[in-house]
Amino acid sequence: MATIFNMAAIFSMESKNKDVMYESILDLIGNTPLVRIKGGLEETGPKAYAKLEFLNPTGSIKDRMAYYIISKAIKEGKLAPGDTVIDNTSGNTGSSLGMVAALFGLKAIVTTPEKTSQEKIDLIKSYGVEVIITPTEAVHEDPEGCYMMARSLAKENSWFDLDQYNSPDNIESHYASTGPEIWNQTDGTVTHFVAGIGTGGTFSGAARYLKEMNPDLKCVAVDPEGSIFADYIKDKKLIEGHTYMTEGIGSDVITKALDTTVVDQVVTVSDKDAFNRARLITRIDGICAGGSSGAVACAIERIAKSASNDSMIVGIFADAGIRYMSKCYNDTWMHKHGYIPQAEAK
Ligand SMILES: Cc1ncc(COP(=O)(O)O)c(C=O)c1O
Repeated sequence: MATIFNMAAIFSMESKNKDVMYESILDLIGNTPLVRIKGGLEETGPKAYAKLEFLNPTGSIKDRMAYYIISKAIKEGKLAPGDTVIDNTSGNTGSSLGMVAALFGLKAIVTTPEKTSQEKIDLIKSYGVEVIITPTEAVHEDPEGCYMMARSLAKENSWFDLDQYNSPDNIESHYASTGPEIWNQTDGTVTHFVAGIGTGGTFSGAARYLKEMNPDLKCVAVDPEGSIFADYIKDKKLIEGHTYMTEGIGSDVITKALDTTVVDQVVTVSDKDAFNRARLITRIDGICAGGSSGAVACAIERIAKSASNDSMIVGIFADAGIRYMSKCYNDTWMHKHGYIPQAEAK
């Protein structure tokens, strides 16, 4: 047990105050730490590190993309204070867009399906964003669905369309930040890069950068069971997807922010495995991340089994577990969906 006398040593009380004052919350986007994870992994196997993207200001990796695309558009004269920005979101992009819009004096509007949790909708609204709720069952091309609704509102009103699913700037934001950070943080010793694919922007941008630095580096994409990405990446086959519960990754449509040429391997993970692994990592490593981070941790375990012991695996933990207290961190919900037995649902 730490005593009051050795607390100074624990927190390293040496003066380190030079980088702790910022002019804007936007200065805190990126430069997230890599933290070793051990949950579910062999003690003697390769080392694995999680890049803690939930330490971005709004709690997810989407801050990078929103900040990059908006500030680039402002620099290029495509956006100015007072203008309106729109996109569709399943939650995280909405808060990121809200934060960035607040700082640049923009109005933000997002469309989101009814299934988005109330906590996420309230969080988006707290940044002053207008939220339009669309029917969950509407498919991608449906004009009433959240994707097409955002596109047509942008067009009709001449609003700036962020269009994260198709924007090359989404990929570029991770090529410019996430990729170089991982390379520099590991002094170029990273051997495997692992990330979930939602729009594909994170994976494509970071993997593109890392492969340019070391063509032998293996880039592994993570897809939830039910999503169509894995079959498309493996055999260019477009399958009929089915619903899944892991949020933020997977898709029922292929969009332009995914660059399949930088994928070496794709790993499919079930909701049950993803959620249970997220819970395990919280208890073993003290890192409480979302269900998609659990999926990434499952993929890391599979890669570690066949990788040499001197490998260095880096995985993206895209958002915070606190967003899922009513879902994968809720025992009743986990049991109701068959993800844990009754005995564990206390
Ligand atoms: C919750 C969440 N948001 C976003 C992402 C990254 O998605 P994208 O492919 O859109 O960059 C992930 C990927 O793991 C995720 O889990």
